[in-house]
Amino acid sequence: MSASRPLDAGPPLAATVVARVEESPGVFTLRVRLDDPGAQAAYRFAPGQFNMLYLYGAGEVPISIMSDPEERDAIGHTIRAVGRVTQGLAALGPGDAIGLRGPFGRGWPLREVSGSDVVLVTGGLGCAPAVSVIHYVLRRRERFGKLVIIQGVRHADDLIWREHYDRWAKLPATQVLVAADVATPLWPWHVGRVTDLFGLARFDPEGAVAMMCGPEGMMRTAGNGLLALGLPEARLYLSMERNMQCAVGRCGHCQIGAAFVCHDGPVFSWGEMKTLLGRRGF
Ligand SMILES: Cc1cc2nc3c(=O)[nH]c(=O)nc-3n(C[C@H](O)[C@H](O)[C@H](O)COP(=O)(O)OP(=O)(O)OC[C@H]3O[C@@H](n4cnc5c(N)ncnc54)[C@H](O)[C@@H]3O)c2cc1C
Ligand code: FES
Repeated sequence: MSASRPLDAGPPLAATVVARVEESPGVFTLRVRLDDPGAQAAYRFAPGQFNMLYLYGAGEVPISIMSDPEERDAIGHTIRAVGRVTQGLAALGPGDAIGLRGPFGRGWPLREVSGSDVVLVTGGLGCAPAVSVIHYVLRRRERFGKLVIIQGVRHADDLIWREHYDRWAKLPATQVLVAADVATPLWPWHVGRVTDLFGLARFDPEGAVAMMCGPEGMMRTAGNGLLALGLPEARLYLSMERNMQCAVGRCGHCQIGAAFVCHDGPVFSWGEMKTLLGRRGF
């Protein structure tokens, strides 16, 4: 799996918000640019890695990078406002200052799985770490087999990036399946669990790689469902979330089992996490 050396594990680098997009109530995307043009030009990340975004005077939070890894101009983050720092970030707009450390962690094993069908299973805002995978695969289409994007949300109103799903669904060798536990009258997709969609997904389980992110209960059920279809355990990966402080494997805040999510993850193989999923305190 790919991990690149953080730009700076010390103080945050000064950056500026260059764009803000409201995705849905309480969910927004901030595109930020490092103030030092040399640092911005040198910034590289692997899909699945995250940054620590620092809201001056409030604190720092880990946020996945959702932009295209080839984009050099700005770095994208899609954020749900849940608490002190993320609600403060929600108030930022173009021109506002922000601090950034990163990228951190181990990303998805995209180089290693070249040639495979790629199945993404995401729940809720879990789609953020998967979006840069979609960009990565679409830019290198000849290196991969089918791309199957399976997204579940609790309520139809929680779905963000509807226009992206519509666009991706029209691409060759790409299938998009979306489910909501609770639908609205004009909801065009499935009503029910994300795992209901597995029967509709067209991919070769034995030659595929699956990547999951979202609530741990969803990933446990989805992982078992994919294994039951015949996906080899060694080709199943997931992205984990834990509270973080240092992001460089020193403070222990993000420990799960023997691993530190910030340093050893956030992407893990199913084998590394299967006994720990959903077990708080481990
Ligand atoms: C590797 C990694 C990647 C992440 N990527 C993203 C991302 O792309 N977009 C995004 O919006 N968030 C992401 N998160 C979660 C994000 O870091 C937290 O939501 C944030 O730290 C909350 O900080 P706060 O100060 O706003 O809330 P706090 O004041 O710390 O918490 C407010 C409330 O939110 C709850 N909460 C805190 N953290 C989480 C969490 N991780 N999940 C659900 N509820 C939580 C708390 O229990 C509390 O009830 C990621 C986390 C990790 C570890
Ligand atoms: S956040 Fe400090 S060890 Fe992971």
